[in-house]
Amino acid sequence: MSERTLMLIKPDGVARGLVGEVIGRIETKGFVLEALELRILEREVAERHYGEHVDKPFFGELVAFITSGPLVAGVISGRGAVAGWRSMMGATDPANSAPGTIRGDFATLLSENVVHGSDSPESAEREIGIFFPDLAR
Ligand code: RTP
Ligand code: MG
Repeated sequence: MSERTLMLIKPDGVARGLVGEVIGRIETKGFVLEALELRILEREVAERHYGEHVDKPFFGELVAFITSGPLVAGVISGRGAVAGWRSMMGATDPANSAPGTIRGDFATLLSENVVHGSDSPESAEREIGIFFPDLAR
């Protein structure tokens, strides 16, 4: 069964010129791009997207960072896309991300870890609805 997930190339990844690298990995993996867009997030959208973290001490920093410049938002689909994309991203903290993963290859900082991926099929549908309402199911 094909599933879909939300992919973000965060502002650090866009600023560092990693868009082509990340999209290339998604394409060569064999996932399908269902939507792709460069945009600057409004604060309210960022707060909704990261709503699960509202009570965490790093929430303010997280929202400030994700709204700090253009990001690339996309929807990717394919068999096992949610877990598959998370595995391509690598562990949240780049200090623990394996080489070969995006975070393992291109990041050192927890706060600037290049990419986002939904953490479950339910999160994916919620987040796709926030970023791409036209694709909501
Ligand atoms: P993301 O949502 O961005 O794809 O990252 P994730 O699932 O791997 O990690 P998550 O727990 O959802 O955390 C979201 C982002 O918050 C930052 N973070 N900072 N200071 C801290 O302890 C801390 N923990 C998480 C990271 O930038 C993480 O990507
Ligand atoms: Mg997360």
